[in-house]
Amino acid sequence: MIFIDACLGKETEYTPVWMMRQAGRYLPQYRALRATTSDFISFCRDSAKAAQATLQPIDELDVDAAIIFSDILVLPLEMGMDLSFKAGEGPVFAKPLSELKALDKLSGDRAVEKLSYVYEALKIARASLAPNKALIGFCGAPWTLATYMIEGRGSKTYEKSKKMLYSNPQLLHSILRKLTNALKDYVCEQIKAGANAIQIFDSWAGALEFSAYYEFAWSYIKEICAHIKKEYPNVPVIVFPKGIGGFITKLDGDFDVLGVGWECDIASVKNSLGAKYVLQGNLEPARLFDKMAIEDGVDEILGVMGGKRHIMNLGHGITPDVSVEHARHFINYTRSRSKELIKGKK
Ligand code: CP3
Repeated sequence: MIFIDACLGKETEYTPVWMMRQAGRYLPQYRALRATTSDFISFCRDSAKAAQATLQPIDELDVDAAIIFSDILVLPLEMGMDLSFKAGEGPVFAKPLSELKALDKLSGDRAVEKLSYVYEALKIARASLAPNKALIGFCGAPWTLATYMIEGRGSKTYEKSKKMLYSNPQLLHSILRKLTNALKDYVCEQIKAGANAIQIFDSWAGALEFSAYYEFAWSYIKEICAHIKKEYPNVPVIVFPKGIGGFITKLDGDFDVLGVGWECDIASVKNSLGAKYVLQGNLEPARLFDKMAIEDGVDEILGVMGGKRHIMNLGHGITPDVSVEHARHFINYTRSRSKELIKGKK
């Protein structure tokens, strides 16, 4: 699998490419499949449909890796939190977490067991995928999951989470501890079910100053990475701390691939961390609205990375209003240009 080879720093014939949120609403076949189930959570719990959605971008775009169709919030859901997805509003927790008593009622072990529909979807997807295509399992990072659980919904200010961080850090650490313990088992179950790599999404990494980020977010991510590496040393681990442009170069840990958000200058990241970690990213997703913008952006990133120790991706998820034709252009253009670049260097 070219994607796994690249994750492990091996030389490849071209730069492998996939897109975050590649199984999603910009694909007409996803919208059609999604319309067969009324709510998003029931759709995630339907392993056969989730597996089908996972494979759609492989069939449509020929990306080098599939990511299992699910959501980061199924973990807090199955721990016992009341979650719903409201059209136009996104995820909403009916009773946001604010005290230890409520945390004590949540069970990580029960979640890892109840998430069997994700493992089943992975098994089905892996059995249907061509042997040269990788299957990525994923989870949300403890900090990002905790912010959703505490705020109750997406937030611009992270007011409640930050208030807890500075005024009741013990409670926040208790939440993060419980999530981390569950996540370690959850990702290992995904690997057992057929995931060839694991990506940890820390979508709200950019909300914190460096010292707080390290203590309340990164230290837990490092613990999950170390656990995966101890249990499965050959399974690549990708971390994606979105939005931390300012201190991305200060991060360390036992992982293989560092996901680079589109706000970061990938040349600087390469200079400081490119020898230690394979880099993934970081085309600004809005470039997908225009073919010239795609080509200019891809040329610039490939020019910096030189076809080595790099996985092409967007610098965050693809948005619903991008055309399939443009998404395909991004994949095909990356493949053909990186092939030429790598051939030229040999
Ligand atoms: O293709 C893939 O990447 C796999 C599937 C996937 C989904 N969510 C499906 C989804 C993945 C990897 C995620 C991760 C996820 N979910 C993140 C981390 C990545 C990021 O974007 O930062 C976050 C923060 C979430 C939480 C979440 N789930 C939000 C905020 C929303 C609503 C926003 C929106 O776009 O509507 C979701 C719902 C969701 N998860 C959808 C999909 C395809 C849209 C709902 C639908 O199709 O009905």
